[in-house]
Amino acid sequence: MRIAIIGCGYVGLVTGTCLAEVGHEAICFDNDPEKTQLLLADRVPIYEPHLEALFLRNRQRGRLRVTATAGEAIRAAEAIFICVGTPPLENGEADLSAIDRVARLIAAEADGPKLVIEKSTVPVRTGLELKRALSVYARTAGHRFRVASNPEFLREGTAVEDFLHPDRIVVGVDEESSEQQLRDIYRPLLEHRFQCPVHRDGCPPDTPPFLVTTIASAELIKHASNSFLALKISYANALAELCERLGADVEEVTRAMGLDPRIGPQFLRAGLGFGGFCLPKDVQAFVRLAERAGVDFSLLREAEKINRRQVERFVEKIRRALWVIRDKQIGVLGLAFKPRTDDIRFSPAVELVRRLQQEGAQVRVFDPKAMPRAEKMLDGARFCRDAYEVADQAEALLIATDWPEFAALDWERIRDTMSRPLVLDGRNLLDPARMRELGFEYFSMGRPAGDCWPLN
Ligand code: UGA
Repeated sequence: MRIAIIGCGYVGLVTGTCLAEVGHEAICFDNDPEKTQLLLADRVPIYEPHLEALFLRNRQRGRLRVTATAGEAIRAAEAIFICVGTPPLENGEADLSAIDRVARLIAAEADGPKLVIEKSTVPVRTGLELKRALSVYARTAGHRFRVASNPEFLREGTAVEDFLHPDRIVVGVDEESSEQQLRDIYRPLLEHRFQCPVHRDGCPPDTPPFLVTTIASAELIKHASNSFLALKISYANALAELCERLGADVEEVTRAMGLDPRIGPQFLRAGLGFGGFCLPKDVQAFVRLAERAGVDFSLLREAEKINRRQVERFVEKIRRALWVIRDKQIGVLGLAFKPRTDDIRFSPAVELVRRLQQEGAQVRVFDPKAMPRAEKMLDGARFCRDAYEVADQAEALLIATDWPEFAALDWERIRDTMSRPLVLDGRNLLDPARMRELGFEYFSMGRPAGDCWPLN
C-alpha cells in the first residue's frame, strides 16, 4: 500500500521505515527543513538500534521516499499516518496545534479519498476534531476522509523490535472499510511475513492480537497504558524509600512481587524515576483530561509527585556522602533518559547534572550516545571521551542512566584513578556486594548500604 508519514520524529521515522521494510511503499514528510535535508541525504537524525540500517536498505530498494513537499506525500498515499509531536502546554494539556496544522494541510492537498490515521498520542475526542477539520477545510468537494486512531506502543531503544513484534495492535475505527485497510497495512506483521532484522536466528512465534475499538477507546488506551506504567514505577520508588528506612532491599521485594502474574515483573525498577518525552507528559495530559471530564484522578498526581522527588532524594544522598557538594569533582555516567537512546528530553540524568551545578559541583559527564544533544543543553559541564576520563580524580561517580556498558566497565581501574572510590548508583545497575568487595563506598536506591556510612 502507498502510505504517507507526516512527522519524522522517533515514531514517524520508525513507522515509515518499518512499513517499508515489511513491503509497503512509504513516503515521509517533516516540516523541519534541517531534518528533511538530513533524511534526503540518507542520514538518520536520531539514534535508534537497527533504524539506520533499515532506513538505508529501504531507501535503496526505492520503497522509502522522503519529500520536502507535504502535498507530494499526501497525494501519493492511500493512507496517511499523522506522527507529529504533541508537546505539553504550560497547563499540562497536550498541544494539538501540529495535528491541526496537518489536518488543514491534508484537507488542502488531498486529491482523492484518504484514510487519516492518528498515531501521535492525543487526548480523547481528537479523532472527532480531526474529522471535522478535514471536512471543513477540504478544498475539493466530494473528497471523503476517514479517520482512525492507531496508538503506538514503541519504546525508544527497542522501537524497531517493538514495531515488528508488537504486544498488540489497536485500531480505533468508525467504519468497516477503515478496519480492513488497517488490517491490510498490518497484515505482514499479523502473518509474520517479513524478514526480521532483530532476531536473526528466528523470531519468537508470536501473533499480535489485533484489537478493533471505537476511536475514543483507542485514544484512551494509549494514555491509560502510559499512565499505568508511570504508576508502577512510582510505586517501586516509594517502596524503595520505605525499604531504605526499614532496612529491606527493594530489589528482593519487587522480584518477589513481579512473580505474581497479576503484577508482572516489568516497570518495577526503582531509581531516579521516569523521564523522556512520553511518560511525564502523558501522565500530565491524562490528569488534565480527567479533570476536564470531572473525574478525580489525583492518584496520578501522586505518581508525578513521587517521581519529582527522586532526583532530589538522590542529591540528598550525594550530599550526605560528600558532606559538602560545592567544588567537589563529581562524575556522572549517563545523560539519556534511558539506555539505548540519544534522547535527553525530560531526562532525570540531565536534571541531576543541573542540580549538582546549582550546588556548585564541578561536573564531568559521559554518555555513549547522548553527548552531542546534551552539549547544546548543559553549559559548564565537562564532556569526557569515556567513563574512565569521567572517573579520573573524581570524588564521587554517579550512575544516572542504566546503560549496560557501564556495568561492564573495568571497575578496578576506576577505583584506582578516583580520588575517593565512592559510587552512587541512581539506577541500581551494579551489584552492591561486588562493588564493596572491590573497595568502593557504594550506595544505590532502596538497597541496604552494607557496612558503608548509613546514608538512608
Ligand atoms: C514509553 C512506553 O513504555 C511505550 O510503550 C510508549 O509507546 C512510549 O512511552 C510512547 O508513548 O511513545 P519510552 O518513553 O521509550 O516508552 O520509555 P520507557 O521504557 O517507558 O521508560 C520511561 C522512563 O521510565 C525511563 O526514564 C526509564 O528509565 C524509567 N523506568 C522504566 C524506570 O525508572 N523504572 C522502570 O522499571 C522502567
